[in-house]
Amino acid sequence: KGRVTVPALRARKGGEPIVCLTAYTTPMAQRLDAYCDLLLVGDSVGTVVYGMDTTLAVTVDMMVNHGKAVMRGSKHACVVIDLPFGSYQESKEQAFRTAAHIMAETGCAAVKLEGGAELADTIEFLTQRGVPVMAHIGLMPQQVNTLGGFKSQGRDDAAAARVLADAKAVAKAGAFSVVIEGTVEAVARTVSAEINIPTIGIGASPACDGQVLVTEDMLGLFSDFTPKFVKRYANLGDLVEKAASDYAAEVKSRSFPADEHCYGIKNPGNLRAVN
Ligand code: KIV
Ligand code: NA
Repeated sequence: KGRVTVPALRARKGGEPIVCLTAYTTPMAQRLDAYCDLLLVGDSVGTVVYGMDTTLAVTVDMMVNHGKAVMRGSKHACVVIDLPFGSYQESKEQAFRTAAHIMAETGCAAVKLEGGAELADTIEFLTQRGVPVMAHIGLMPQQVNTLGGFKSQGRDDAAAARVLADAKAVAKAGAFSVVIEGTVEAVARTVSAEINIPTIGIGASPACDGQVLVTEDMLGLFSDFTPKFVKRYANLGDLVEKAASDYAAEVKSRSFPADEHCYGIKNPGNLRAVN
């Protein structure tokens, strides 16, 4: 049996919550695949893996390379790849060109783009031409310079109305699902109740039809910046440090490598006696 399909995800509206995580590499995708309905190759790769301050400098080539790696490491989840900043906002034609390139190069099933009502024409254009689109509203990290920072959204009536209008616009335009990021609970709840496509929350309440987290955040592998909405399910960063420190100590004491790690020792145990 193959991967979870876009129509299957779309049909999960109001049903069993949709499980999503980000993935950027083959080994991580291999570990996550069986537990996820959707693996998102997010442009968060720029901040999480490349150490960038924002996602703005992420390129299409980066998304293609990480997308290929995630496709190689997965066989069950639906793989969705982010369109990076500057690769789709100029026109619906530019968006189609970028999306088609990414889909053809990687074999992914869909793309995600940040934007609401202002991107509705683009979403409709892509959807009608064989490119399933996941929208991303609320806090849109590619708009960091317009927003003046990473701030939660929907805090007053006008802002709440904007998020709801964006959700309705992307659903009407044919998006198969929409990520709602960093948005107050009541707004995410209303949006989820009022649109007919699955909402995927990240800092947007359990009322959403599914959840997504950045994998490195939830594993404790990335701690430069930890938003309120992140829950730590593991502390792999600490494990990495412990392993590196143990290794360093053993190299310095020459207890690593031991006989079993060496070639051509016929009688393990004798080496140290000879020395
Ligand atoms: O880039 C990303 O990881 C994302 C998720 C946080 C939704 O867009
Ligand atoms: Na993203």
